[in-house]
Amino acid sequence: MNPVADVLISKEKIAARIQEIGAQINKDYAGKELTVVCVLKGSFIFMADLVRALNVPLTCEFISVSSYGNEKTSSGEVKLVLDISKPLDGKHVLIVEDIVDSGLTLKFIRDLLGVRNPASIACCALLEKPEALKTQVSVEYTGFKIGNEFVVGYGLDYAQKYRELPYIGLMKA
Ligand code: IMP
Repeated sequence: MNPVADVLISKEKIAARIQEIGAQINKDYAGKELTVVCVLKGSFIFMADLVRALNVPLTCEFISVSSYGNEKTSSGEVKLVLDISKPLDGKHVLIVEDIVDSGLTLKFIRDLLGVRNPASIACCALLEKPEALKTQVSVEYTGFKIGNEFVVGYGLDYAQKYRELPYIGLMKA
């Protein structure tokens, strides 16, 4: 057990849920090819597990935006730090997010990629905090809905730490 975080969602539960979401995505995109966009840094572990649960042909892209400093609340301002490397014309795009909190990051990315002429665009988020939502944004695939609490692990950080924890944890007081 890690001294900093109590388990909120175990690695077994995460793995089982990813298989379920993967099966749904495989069904929804059968016969199509996906461009899967990983939102760095928080989604890198989720992305790695999710793409291995998919059996449709796919390519992986990476995007990085900044909105959080080292703090636990969003600045509300989202900036593009690293863009994807390929055009999206005619592509079926799946954005992979670690967590939708205020929703501002996802809205920014959906708007940014949505104008690049993709055939379709959807989002898969491991976690959603419905009480924290500040904007209308669609999330087509959700792993788990959680309360308005700060979580770490499985890619998610606090001040760039704890991403390596294999579970979603709540910081100990
Ligand atoms: P949003 O723009 O407020 O939806 O925030 C999205 C980003 O904030 C996520 O991609 C995370 O990187 C970060 N974030 C939001 N909530 C948490 C949390 O509880 N733990 C760690 N990072 C978080």
